Formats: sequence, C-alpha cells, structure tokens
Amino acid sequence: MAYEHPLAYVLGLEGIALLRAFAGEHDRDFVDARIAEIRRVLADHAFEGVDVEHLSTVDGYRIWSATYDNPDNPAFDFDEGIVRAVAGTVPHGVALDAACGTGRVAAMLADCGHRVIGVDNSAEMLAHAEKRLPRADFRPGELQQLPVETDGVDVVVCSLALTHVPDLAPVFGEFARVLRPGGHLVIADIHPEQVARSRVPAIRGADGAAGRVRSYHHRTGDYVRAGIDAGLAIRSCDEPVTASPLRDRTADPGPWEAWPWSLDLLAPEAAHAAHLGVPSMILWHWQAPATTALDSANASTRRRPGPRRSTM
Ligand SMILES: C[S@@+](CC[C@H](N)C(=O)[O-])C[C@H]1O[C@@H](n2cnc3c(N)ncnc32)[C@H](O)[C@@H]1O
Repeated sequence: MAYEHPLAYVLGLEGIALLRAFAGEHDRDFVDARIAEIRRVLADHAFEGVDVEHLSTVDGYRIWSATYDNPDNPAFDFDEGIVRAVAGTVPHGVALDAACGTGRVAAMLADCGHRVIGVDNSAEMLAHAEKRLPRADFRPGELQQLPVETDGVDVVVCSLALTHVPDLAPVFGEFARVLRPGGHLVIADIHPEQVARSRVPAIRGADGAAGRVRSYHHRTGDYVRAGIDAGLAIRSCDEPVTASPLRDRTADPGPWEAWPWSLDLLAPEAAHAAHLGVPSMILWHWQAPATTALDSANASTRRRPGPRRSTM
C-alpha cells in the first residue's frame, strides 16, 4: 500500500528544483523563492493524503479495459512513428504485438501488411482487441513465457507494458527466442524518470478504493543490459521530451484521479523547473543477429541464443 500525500509530491518537486539550482541551473532569487514557498506550504497546508493499493496488471486492466481506448491518453502519441518506420519498411511477415492490450499497435502492424499475433494476460483487454481486429491471432499469455514458437516472428513490438514487469531479463530473453535471425524489436514505454515521479494513471476499484497498476523503475542501462544479454543489438534509442510550460497556480490539489498532474499546479515554478527537459518516453529499436554460416549448420539444434553476459 502506498500513501500519496500532496505535500510529499510538492516537497519532492521543490527538492528536485533545488537540486537543479544547486547544480547551477538557477540563481539566488529562484532558490530564495523555493525555500520561502516550502515554508509557506508547510505552514498553510490542509491537504489530505490517500492510501493507494498496488494493483496487479490483471486486476488493474480488468477495470481499465472499459476506458483504455479513450484517445486522450498522451502516451499514445509517441509509438506510431517508430512502429511504422520499422514494421512498415521490412518485408511482410509475422508481427507479434507483445502485451497487445486492446490491439492499438496490432492494428498498425496489420496496416503495415503483416500477419499479426497479439499476446496479453488480460482477458478483458484481449476481448477489445479481438473486436478491433477479428482476423488477427490473439492469444492469452505472459510476456515472460510467450505462447509463440521459437524463431517464428519477423517483428516484435511491445508498447507501454515493460514498466509493469519487475525484471526485464526474462522478457528480453523471450523476445530474442521468438525473433527470426535478423528480426526487429521495437519497445516504447513511459520513461523511467516519469515512473519515478509516479506519473502512472489512477484506477478506482468497484468499491471506490484508490489503486495504481504496479509499475517498476527500469533505468535506461537496465534495458541495455537485458537486451545485450539476450543477444540483441541496439539500432536506436530515443528519449523524446514534451514541452513543460509554466502553468497557473491553484491552491486546490484536485481529485485524486488527477494526481500527480494536478499537484504540479500547487507549485508551478518548482514543477516547471523539476520537469524541464525530462523525457516523456523511451523508444528502442533492437535487432536479432543475422544467421551466420555456423548457425545455419546448427539450425536444426538451435533453440535460443545463449545468454551473453554484458559487462555493463
Ligand atoms: C498500458 S497497456 C498497453 C497495451 C498496448 N500495448 C498499447 O500500447 O496500447 C499494458 C498491457 O500490458 C499487459 N501486460 C502487463 N504485464 C503483462 C505480462 N506480464 N504479460 C502479458 N501482458 C501483460 C496488460 O494486460 C495491458 O494490456
């Protein structure tokens, strides 16, 4: 159970802003204003905290599936470019949408001309995907044990799901196993800096209890190590930044469902300084090694690339 208190968030923003000032990004007036604001907020605040349950993905997406396709989700704005740049430029084949949810990315892969397999462990999300793409092959299953044959896929895309897995290594191992030699992997996810700021959507249970789907903070290096250890090579890594405008101040934290975004308005200058230049997403393109002459000779015995320990 987490305890979310508006003051904890605001003091955290002030702390990040002050650290950045200490590192030389802001002047004395800024530092004095932050310290004065902290004193004021501590003296005046009348905020209430909220106990927040960590939901499993299966429980969380059972509830969220009803509203997931709401087009207002800003995280949907980032992956289409890289998905089409990769899946739209390779020969038509088999594409796997790993943790496909309601089939948002599966639809892009089908549009690129691929035969689509989608895997997800939420029956409710899969039901939406099946309605969206009746001709695709949707399968219940886990990212850590994909119900997909070895060397069976030309492109894997995994969008907005890896922050939900505690350990990237087994999932990258599965991506490497199912990819054909030379196959491509695209990963799009919330940037670890945003996960560290708890910028994870809120979910109310049927009983009204506050919850967030359990999310994990994987550093960029965690992805690098997991991918290299699975035998994959990095083709690109992008960390797009969304503009962080200075917004109007309010004294109202807003409803819990709008946290932490609405809490930025309690201390807008601190929020602006804390979020400036912080990436929104992390976007990866990986590739499986092409078959070598030796691999071809051993193809009948090959099951998966052996783990190659990186030294990072
Ligand atoms: C935010 S949704 C993303 C859905 C889709 N990829 C998209 O970008 O719209 C995350 C999805 O990951 C699925 N998921 C999370 N952990 C999983 C796991 N270990 N195995 C299979 N699916 C998982 C959830 O059920 C959910 O459908």
